[in-house]
Amino acid sequence: AVDLTAELNGLTLANPVMPASGCFGPELGGLLPVRDLGAVVTKTVFTRRRSGNPAHRLTETEQGMLNSVGIPSPGAARFTRDVLHGYRTFGVPVIASVGGLTVDEYWQMVEELDGERIDALEVNVSCPNLEHGGLAIGADAAIVERLVTGVVARADVPVFVKLTPSVTSISDIARAAEFAGAAGVTVCNTFPGLAIDVDNRRPVLGNAIGGLSGPAIKPLALRLVWQAATAVGIPVIGCGGIRTARDVVEFLLAGATAVQVGTATFTRPYVMSELVRGLAELCADLGVTSSAELVGGLL
Ligand code: DOR
Repeated sequence: AVDLTAELNGLTLANPVMPASGCFGPELGGLLPVRDLGAVVTKTVFTRRRSGNPAHRLTETEQGMLNSVGIPSPGAARFTRDVLHGYRTFGVPVIASVGGLTVDEYWQMVEELDGERIDALEVNVSCPNLEHGGLAIGADAAIVERLVTGVVARADVPVFVKLTPSVTSISDIARAAEFAGAAGVTVCNTFPGLAIDVDNRRPVLGNAIGGLSGPAIKPLALRLVWQAATAVGIPVIGCGGIRTARDVVEFLLAGATAVQVGTATFTRPYVMSELVRGLAELCADLGVTSSAELVGGLL
């Protein structure tokens, strides 16, 4: 049998496949064999309750999905009381995604999770759909370094940082996260885009700008993963347009230690289980006994 274990710098996964934040909730537990997955990742949670962006929040373009959900959140208190335990019921590691509008809000959120049973944090510094544009924090290496340093100081679990593709140099931001003590970086969040309704002469989405996801961004994400993995010594979690086991292997070869699946889960709920099975088969075809051997294995 092929060994699919993924070692993420203090977090060991049975296999490298997990959902992207916001694309899996405990309500799907009855429909999916969640225990097949390497981990689950929560929707990004903020300290304060938020209602998110006006409708429409989601549209399909010919090139991929565009979302401007705006991170609706129950707030920290309700999340820890009513939501988190739902993610815990599957027997796989739980990665809690945290957000904020200011550096202090991130730190406060991490303090709110102190003592909760989570296995890792993913700091979302890359939502394209927040007030003030949402991108300023994740595009500034100095702010990322300060923010992540403060998160790591307050956390007793490995800290991953989800990066935005909207940067001049992903290497600089990944290095800032590494310097701040991050266990790894997730590359990447959605790409800011705009869909236009010609008949009504309006943006399709209520917030105009949204984040593009799906197969259209796969080559873009692969490039970012490759550059980040080359720049840092910490693990990279790859994310962007993955639909097939071959896509997973492409991300591993580019340097990702694990992968996240988002858009594909909306149209094909079982896709992640299929990827785990398909990855084992493809490893055997490629003549490797573990998927870890493929990580960064471009010739
Ligand atoms: O595309 C995204 N949409 N990325 C995020 O980080 C958050 C999400 C949302 O809620 O808008």
